[in-house]
Amino acid sequence: MAKRAVASDSAVAPVDDKAPVVRSLSALRTAENGCRRCPLYRNATQAVPGEGPRRAKVMLVGEQPGDKEDLAGKPFVGPAGRVLDQALADAGIPRSETFVTNAVKHFKFEPRGKRRLHKKPNAYEIERCHWWLEQERAIVQPELIVALGATAARSLIGRVVTITKLRGEALSLETGTRLLVTIHPSALLRMQEEAEKRAAYAAFVRDLKIAAKLVFKRAA
Ligand code: URA
Repeated sequence: MAKRAVASDSAVAPVDDKAPVVRSLSALRTAENGCRRCPLYRNATQAVPGEGPRRAKVMLVGEQPGDKEDLAGKPFVGPAGRVLDQALADAGIPRSETFVTNAVKHFKFEPRGKRRLHKKPNAYEIERCHWWLEQERAIVQPELIVALGATAARSLIGRVVTITKLRGEALSLETGTRLLVTIHPSALLRMQEEAEKRAAYAAFVRDLKIAAKLVFKRAA
């Protein structure tokens, strides 16, 4: 499958010369929890680091932790995580063999009564948190990164991209790491119409099957 280079990515080089380069996932977890690179740490319960095997071949990148993830300190354990788990299973990708993380490590929200409503991270927050994503990439060195939605794709590619124009295609970042862009699973949760939801879910699984084929050489 042809690989289209998309990146002006800053590779796995540290973005900030003065910050230490972290070498293990446990040290990274500690470092992320001490992060003050943007103001999001102030209201979040904790940072939510990526999770999975140190040498996972596939890295899945979401947007930012949600309410459940913020409380648990683990990525994709809430409603969007359940959709992701089902889609990965349907695509033949064991989640346990993937490294799951987010473009932004702290939950950004707006209080509404007792609820905390998700707020999209802005360009500054995405750019500041890109440092941590690069540290994760440097440690895990995945063969393939799957960007789940526009925020992840923006962080990885370094510019705003249109998901519908790039999705499902084997792309590559400047470092040679493969990149596959698809939708964010929470997009499915927002769909009201059953038929639309079913079709969008099938397309999501199709994209993930391409990822499976690229990395595990499993038939789609
Ligand atoms: N949405 C994300 O992008 N990441 C999570 O961890 C949970 C929901």
